[in-house]
Amino acid sequence: MVPGLIDVHVHLREPGFEYKETIETGSQSAAKGGFTTICCMPNTKPVIDNEIMVEYIKLKAEREACVHVLPIGSITKNQAGEELANIGKMAEVGICGISEDGKSVENAGLMKKAMLYAKMFELPILDHCEDLNLVGGGSMNAGDTAALLGLKGIPVEAEEVMIARDILLAESTGVHLHLCHVSTKGSLDFIRLAKQRGISVSAEVCPHHFALTEEAVDGYDANTKMSPPLRSKEDVEAMKQGLKEGIIDIIATDHAPHHVDEKNCEYEKAANGIVGLETAVPLGITELVEPGILTPMQWVEKMSTNPAKLLNIKKGTLQEDRIADITIIDPKQEYEIDVYSFASKSKNSPFHGRKVRGKVLYTIVDGKIVVDQGELV
Ligand code: DOR
Ligand code: ZN
Ligand code: ZN
Repeated sequence: MVPGLIDVHVHLREPGFEYKETIETGSQSAAKGGFTTICCMPNTKPVIDNEIMVEYIKLKAEREACVHVLPIGSITKNQAGEELANIGKMAEVGICGISEDGKSVENAGLMKKAMLYAKMFELPILDHCEDLNLVGGGSMNAGDTAALLGLKGIPVEAEEVMIARDILLAESTGVHLHLCHVSTKGSLDFIRLAKQRGISVSAEVCPHHFALTEEAVDGYDANTKMSPPLRSKEDVEAMKQGLKEGIIDIIATDHAPHHVDEKNCEYEKAANGIVGLETAVPLGITELVEPGILTPMQWVEKMSTNPAKLLNIKKGTLQEDRIADITIIDPKQEYEIDVYSFASKSKNSPFHGRKVRGKVLYTIVDGKIVVDQGELV
């Protein structure tokens, strides 16, 4: 029995892309995966960049979601990178942070201004770090595998220059900077340094970045395509080390559902992202807890306690007087991941058929059982 798991990085796709996922199906996927609270990214259509949209998400979630849903507002209007979204108005009606996820705010001056606003409203920035000019149209990690497969590579610097830039901006503005889906050894070194310098930063890693290397792209399965891309063995080892050392505070899924047609095409043209809510628990247990990289307690901290701290919410512990958000897991149960059993509308996972251990048996939200014996109630 653990405190209800919290995922700070989820794409629910509603409104605009309901064929991939909805607030209802995404929340069901979360519940099956053991999550009782999820934060949803603003790259919907329209973008969550104003208070009306925030109210809309909250209302829909209240009516249709079976877990707690906390909206994240965008940093710029329409995520166009030109002018700031109305961060103050969104803060008034309740967002848990701001993010331009899917891309970076390329204009450093605008990003600094956003940080000053976020600081004023005591909101964290959830930062997608990627310089598009360095990505240069690449579709997987730059290196031998990319060369072998004839795919254009994305260099690690595409992530690292933005990580470094935004750490510097966070230092000067004092905002809390949360670095999303960190994937390279170099990024980790910058984060370590930032923490040593006392800068207010936290970082997340996604299960796919500790459970798979770039070699999984061999075969051109587009379910191995995401942003940032799967990296080298050395980077994957660094992610595990970062988790162990505590440089990485949080495990988040970046649950990014896509329709089969958006993946069933040439690798270069396929959409970025994988569904993650229903595989995070077994991948964490199998890849981190069983080999002794994290103790069970440290794993719970990264799946619940630290996310609650980032969001500044009274969750993430099993304590009297708290809302009963609870997850019950059988860490020993062995099975094969089956995408067709997912509650998510989308099945884009590179983990189909993988043997894992760790099964979510019960998810309890606000004292109500929403998953019973592994099945939605
Ligand atoms: O792989 C990704 N998919 N990375 C992102 O940053 C965006 C996400 C999406 O929205 O599909
Ligand atoms: Zn992202
Ligand atoms: Zn994302």
